[in-house]
Amino acid sequence: MRKKTLHDLKDLKGKIVLVRVDFNVPIENGKVTNNARIVAALPTIEYLIKNEAKVILLSHLGRIKTEEDKKTKSLKSVAMEFTKASTHAINFVAATRGKKVEEAINNMENGSIMMIENTRFEDVKNNILVNYESKNDEKLGKYWASLGDLFVNDAFGTAHRAHASNVGIAKYIKESAIGFLIEKEIKFLHDAISEPKRPFIALLGGAKVSDKINVIDALAKKADKVIIGTAMCYTFHLAMGKKIGKSLAEPEKVDLAKKLMKKYQDKLVIASDSICTKEYKDVKGKVYENIPDDLMGLDIGPKTIKVIKKELKGAKTVIWNGPFGVTEFKNYQEGSKAIAHELINLKDAITIIGGGDSAAMAIKMGIEGKISHISTGGGASMEFLEGKELPGIAAINNIN
Ligand code: 3PG
Repeated sequence: MRKKTLHDLKDLKGKIVLVRVDFNVPIENGKVTNNARIVAALPTIEYLIKNEAKVILLSHLGRIKTEEDKKTKSLKSVAMEFTKASTHAINFVAATRGKKVEEAINNMENGSIMMIENTRFEDVKNNILVNYESKNDEKLGKYWASLGDLFVNDAFGTAHRAHASNVGIAKYIKESAIGFLIEKEIKFLHDAISEPKRPFIALLGGAKVSDKINVIDALAKKADKVIIGTAMCYTFHLAMGKKIGKSLAEPEKVDLAKKLMKKYQDKLVIASDSICTKEYKDVKGKVYENIPDDLMGLDIGPKTIKVIKKELKGAKTVIWNGPFGVTEFKNYQEGSKAIAHELINLKDAITIIGGGDSAAMAIKMGIEGKISHISTGGGASMEFLEGKELPGIAAINNIN
C-alpha cells in the first residue's frame, strides 16, 4: 500500500500545513554543530513555500525529563541555524500550545514559516514527568491537529516513535502525507533490502552488538556478506576464544554471537586484527590479533582492511552502519577512511550510510556527496532494516 506523498496534497495555497521534522541535531554552546537533518528537510519546506502554504514546523530536541532540561534544549538555536541553511526567515514561537502559538498562526502570511518550541517540552509540566508528547497523549495530538489543515511527516529519524507530534496529529487531522525526505529514505532503504543489486555487502560497526543483533540477523538473510567491525567484533572474538584485552565487549552476548556465527558461517566476516592502545586516548597504537590484557582495540588493523577491500570489490549494493573505529581520534580512523575510499570508488553501486554516528562520520570523511544515500535515521533506519513497521509512517494516509 502506498502512502500519500506531498504531491498528493492539492490546493496548498493558504493552507496551514503542520510539518513534523526531525531537527534533533547536536548542539554545543548554543550552536548547531551538524545541520544535516535541517538541510535534509529543506526540499519539503521549499515545496510548500513555493505553493504558498503556511508552514508550521514541529520537532523534538533531546530528551526532556526535568524543567532544568528545558534550559539547554530550546529549538531557538535550531531556528537560527535554519535561517542560515535556507533562504527563508522563520518565526520561532517559544511555546508548544496556547494563545502565543494560536495568535502567531492567525498572523501568518501565505508562504511563511513558523516553528513552535521543542515538542518534548510537553513531557514535563511543573517539574512532573507527564510524557504527553512521548506517550502520544490523545488530547495533545488532537490539539496540535486542530491548528492545521494538513499534516506532513518528514521526520524519518523519529518515525520509529509513536508520539503525539507524529502519530497523534496524523490520527486527528483531515489529510496527511509523507514528505520528500521520508519518501527518499523509504525508496533507498526499501530497494536495497528488497531487491538489492548483487553482490550486496553490509558493514556493521559501532559499539554494541546488543543494539544491532536484529539488524545483523535481518541483513545476513539478505546480503551476500555481513562484515562486523570495531567495537562489535570483540564480542565475536570472545565467542571465538580470542583475547580482547580491555576492549569493549558484551560478554553476556557471547552465546548469541556464537549462534549467529554458526547460522551465517558463509556470510559473516569478523574483523580479525586491531590497532590497540593502553588508554582511550588519541595516541599511536600497535596491531594485534590477540590483544594483551592491558590494551584495548580502537580500530581495525591492516589485515582486516585488506579483507574488506577484497569483499567490496565489484559490490553493487553496500549498506554501512556504524564507524569501524573511534573516528573522533586521528590515530583510529584509518579503517573507516579505507572503507569510505572503497565505497566512493565503486562503479554503478548503490551505497547507503545509516545511523547517527555514521552520517557524522561521512561528513567528516568528506564523502557525503559521493554516497548514494546518507540516512538521517539512527534507530529509525535500524528498525526499518530489521523489517519493522515504523509507526510514524504507518499513521499516514494511504492512497485510496
Ligand atoms: C534520533 O536522533 O534518533 C531521533 O531524533 C529520535 O530521538 P530519540 O531516540 O531521543 O527518540
